[in-house]
Amino acid sequence: MSTRPAAVIVLAAGEGTRMKSATPKVLHEIGGRSLIGHAVAAAGSLEPEILAIVVGHGRDQVTEHVTAIAPDVRIAVQDKQLGTGHAVACALEELPDLNGTVVVTYGDVPLLAAGTLREFVDRHEGSRYAVTVLTALLADPHGYGRIVRDERGNVAAIVEQKDASPEVQAIKEINSGIYAFDAGVLRDGLARLDTDNAQGELYLTDLIGLARADGLSVGGYEVADRWQTEGVNDRVQLAALGRELNRRVTEHCMRAGVTIIDPETTWIDVTVELEADVVLRPGTQLYGATSVAAGAQIGPDTTLRDCVVGAGANVVRAHGESSQIEAGADVGPYARMRPGTLVRAGGKVGTFVETKNATIGPSAKVPHLTYVGDATIGEGANIGAGTIFVNYDGLAKHHTTVGKGSFVGSNSSLVAPVDIADGAYVAAGSAVTDDVEPGEIAVARAKQRNIAGWVARKRSGTRTADAAAEAQAAGTRHTGDLRGEAGQAGGEGS
Ligand code: UD1
Ligand code: MG
Repeated sequence: MSTRPAAVIVLAAGEGTRMKSATPKVLHEIGGRSLIGHAVAAAGSLEPEILAIVVGHGRDQVTEHVTAIAPDVRIAVQDKQLGTGHAVACALEELPDLNGTVVVTYGDVPLLAAGTLREFVDRHEGSRYAVTVLTALLADPHGYGRIVRDERGNVAAIVEQKDASPEVQAIKEINSGIYAFDAGVLRDGLARLDTDNAQGELYLTDLIGLARADGLSVGGYEVADRWQTEGVNDRVQLAALGRELNRRVTEHCMRAGVTIIDPETTWIDVTVELEADVVLRPGTQLYGATSVAAGAQIGPDTTLRDCVVGAGANVVRAHGESSQIEAGADVGPYARMRPGTLVRAGGKVGTFVETKNATIGPSAKVPHLTYVGDATIGEGANIGAGTIFVNYDGLAKHHTTVGKGSFVGSNSSLVAPVDIADGAYVAAGSAVTDDVEPGEIAVARAKQRNIAGWVARKRSGTRTADAAAEAQAAGTRHTGDLRGEAGQAGGEGS
């Protein structure tokens, strides 16, 4: 039976110089979550009595972020980074007396899985070790602390790279930096640490040697999946771990019944929810609180952030943010949905259409070249090509309503605030400024007037004037075959 650890302490005070960033290292993101967010999620899954984070560099930013994602977290400040042992001591100073198991993890190790952490703590407690170290076998262990085991397979010591003899440097088993401690052993050991080492730091790793000297047993729990112990030190590692996390997320989705045509070009945040029988086409990115229901097809080349997509919807080459696309709706290709867009069931947002704070009613269609801002479009309405919802007067935004079953002719401007009732028409090319009642057609454009003889008077000598003269002489509207060569070459019926 699993117990609740007394505390998990997450170390996150380091500077992360190699990131070369104004942003503290642990606030960089992979899979839509900060590095510290991943560490906090794994730590939280153990349901510890206390979750503590040690902050130092960029402490204000890190504290603000961490308290936003985990309000109950205890923050401990490490002013100077005097070593991992010092960091844990800073945390204990902030905490009440602890009994039981204290787990230490790093804020920059994002792929450590909740399940691994749980097994690790269970092993530590089940075997009654004073300390257990999470270890990994690496082909290239350079830079890591090495695990020195005794003849019984227990851990005798951890030796840092800079302090290691050639024989110890040849050891491939490394210290991940993740530990489970008996709280008493941790407290007593920290009080006895010194800085007698190559880096002049208080090494947390020295607790292992101290525990052994006291006759206590130290376990080593090797995790076969080396990614889980990998830390981020620079942006190359950030990208590598980000890609590996995405590989895991896409694989998980596929095993749960999602078709992903090209996992390599499909990016899915850890926070996204996909039902079985969703199809993701190449070049799709799903971010944040996005969810997609069964049978919906997304992509190719589509980015959705915080969007809710209903069953059977089809979203092609689109960019959407904080928008909702209901069941069976059709979006794209080349559509942009800005926040507040709601495409009701069976509705259509088509090619080169931009929407913002707009409801497209059930089965309503906005098929081409349209801007819909601050609008409500009723069920089954049809918005002609090139319609602009004129929502902004330079000072404020205003709302437009187009009622159920109404029809807006192409290239119209609907100047908000304006209300087109159910069952109304707008003539093509209108600039509508006044409300339209049910059953009416609004014609809001200059009436056409044709001026005879204008071309001959104003454009004589041009090919236009020649063509006019030829048609007039023949007493017809058009001379020759308007379809040209293609028609004669049998291109008919295409
Ligand atoms: C440490 C371990 C090493 C292990 C390696 C795994 C020690 C002495 N060595 O080495 O055995 O193989 O991690 O990555 O513990 N931190 C603080 N305050 C400090 C120092 C560090 O919060 O004063 C935090 C850092 O932000 C980082 C983590 O602790 O998240 C590890 O620190 P780092 O300096 O990278 O330790 P290493 O020297 O790599
Ligand atoms: Mg390190």
